Amino acid sequence: MIRLKDAEIIAAGHTRDVYRHPDDASLLIKVIRASAIATRYGRGSPWYKFKRRRYAHLISYLREVREQIAVHAIGGPHPRFLQKIVGFVETDMGMGLVVEAVRAADGSSAPTVAALAAEGALDEVRLAALDRFLDEMVNSPVIVADLNPFNVVYGRGADGVDHFVLIDGIGHKNLIPLERMSARLNRWSKVRKGDRFRQMVAARRSASGQSATVVNR
Ligand SMILES: Nc1ncnc2c1ncn2[C@@H]1O[C@H](COP(=O)(O)OP(=O)(O)OP(=O)(O)O)[C@@H](O)[C@H]1O
Ligand SMILES: [Mg+2]
Repeated sequence: MIRLKDAEIIAAGHTRDVYRHPDDASLLIKVIRASAIATRYGRGSPWYKFKRRRYAHLISYLREVREQIAVHAIGGPHPRFLQKIVGFVETDMGMGLVVEAVRAADGSSAPTVAALAAEGALDEVRLAALDRFLDEMVNSPVIVADLNPFNVVYGRGADGVDHFVLIDGIGHKNLIPLERMSARLNRWSKVRKGDRFRQMVAARRSASGQSATVVNR
């Protein structure tokens, strides 16, 4: 059992707190906050949410794991655009998802696209990397639910090259998993999400006084 109660929360989203893995600096542990469980998953779910009844709030882990399996099922190494899940651990804050930490070149926590846009730090090199990220995502079998500037971080890869990584918003949430049934539909849906993502990035850049030019295709 890993103790996280007194550990430092190094990042947080709407539902999860992120901690360093106490035994391995290259890993992070994500746990679902108790308050998020109560507000999002409390009360009895209707019958058609039978999966959610069975897995409760942990269904989000199932979605992410399923996508990692889908991506590995086509063969080849783990793609660099996608956060790598390495397992689960039992913690005093509930079941923890263990993932590889994405780090900036200097070893600090990788900034989100939202942070880079706000700092005016999305230069030509990074915008080109963002284009490559979106291409890799669209061309992979992964299903993406929530592509937004807080779910993509920028860090140094094992190859020494900086690139963007999708760290959340992975897997479908619909009752009828259309994207799972049709690769073409999934691709189309991701192209649209990619376009909306570019618009969100452009809006954040212009709010920070940067050029509002939408990233070129
Ligand atoms: N693998 C990772 N490497 C580096 N930083 C990460 C990683 N995963 C998460 N983070 C940081 O932690 C923050 C929260 O993580 P995550 O998006 O998984 O939480 P969440 O609560 O599910 O988010 P949401 O608000 O979208 O529901 C991210 O915005 C990012 O800054
Ligand atoms: Mg998130």
